Amino acid sequence: MEIDWSKLTFSYRPVNCHVEYHYKDGQWDKGEEKTSPFITLSIAAECLHYGQEIFEGLKAYRGKDGKVRVFRMDMNAKRFQNSAHRCCMAPVPIEMFEEAVERAIKANMDFVPPYGTGATMYIRPVLLGTGPQIGVAPASEYTFIVMVMPVGAYYKGGLQAVRACLVDEYDRAAPHGTGMVKVAGNYAASLLPHEMAKKAGFPIDLYLDAAQHKYVEEFGSSNFIAITRDGKYVTPDSPSVLPSITNDGLQQVARDLGIPVEKRPIDFMKEIGDFAEVAACGTAVVITPVSEIVRLKTGESWKMPTGDSCGPVLQKLYDTYTGIQWGALPDSHGWLKEIC
Ligand code: PLP
Ligand code: COI
Repeated sequence: MEIDWSKLTFSYRPVNCHVEYHYKDGQWDKGEEKTSPFITLSIAAECLHYGQEIFEGLKAYRGKDGKVRVFRMDMNAKRFQNSAHRCCMAPVPIEMFEEAVERAIKANMDFVPPYGTGATMYIRPVLLGTGPQIGVAPASEYTFIVMVMPVGAYYKGGLQAVRACLVDEYDRAAPHGTGMVKVAGNYAASLLPHEMAKKAGFPIDLYLDAAQHKYVEEFGSSNFIAITRDGKYVTPDSPSVLPSITNDGLQQVARDLGIPVEKRPIDFMKEIGDFAEVAACGTAVVITPVSEIVRLKTGESWKMPTGDSCGPVLQKLYDTYTGIQWGALPDSHGWLKEIC
């Protein structure tokens, strides 16, 4: 196996194995490493008919010292439980989630990219309602999978800015809907606007709140963050946005660096032209600066003062945050867990 680590993109790649657990008769089994990347399902499996499926995304990093560390997996484990609760699924106990992640990494150590290549190991836990179910009701059986793969940048790479478009024709999540949990159906519903955006030349699509189309919500697969001209970190406060672990960590890093943090509604038309720096943040996209936002419906455009590059405040946040993730800066909040 020869992998050119520095040329990796964010795409699926088969590895040695995944870890698979089954829930039946009210309990989880002990899980197994499986080399075949295929599963067998009943044609009546709940996930196939009613979309009872949730997932997570987290990363492991190989540090300069050669050690492999996973980042804030307790947070992903908790969010996975919230998503399971929202979809009436058998919750995965926190310890079992963490054990599964560790098992999947350990069994695929040769796929954790070397330090200095910029590549990471992406970890994708998935929970499926697998029991046969034709009346609409929760499944009685579940499959929990943790798969891993080495990945590179989600968009162009590093801190290169991308153009975003504002989508008015479709909403990402309704108030009191499922926006705040990581449910597969949210992403199925996002494919059409996302493909539209891509065809129009925008790799990333931004949504406003569904009720009024007034306040910024988030991007299709990442949170919205901005730096104001007077140097504050702002991010939307909305119950229908996914609580991003990256956003949470960046807020902490910002506070540590003395940058004031504001989590509040952001009125798109009133504020978008005034920001000094704008970016998307998330596990897959890390921090991806936004160079311009175009409202497709009206053709209006807002160019960010930072142009195609990353602004100084976001750059500082990026350097500090990724420095902690790679084990190059002190892990003062206890975010990393050494795997081996
Ligand atoms: N928002 C959405 C819709 C996402 O899919 C993601 C990715 O997980 C995020 C935000 C970022 O969340 P996190 O930082 O926990 O990866
Ligand atoms: C992540 O950032 O981990 C995500 O899950 C985003 C994804 C939909 C690619």
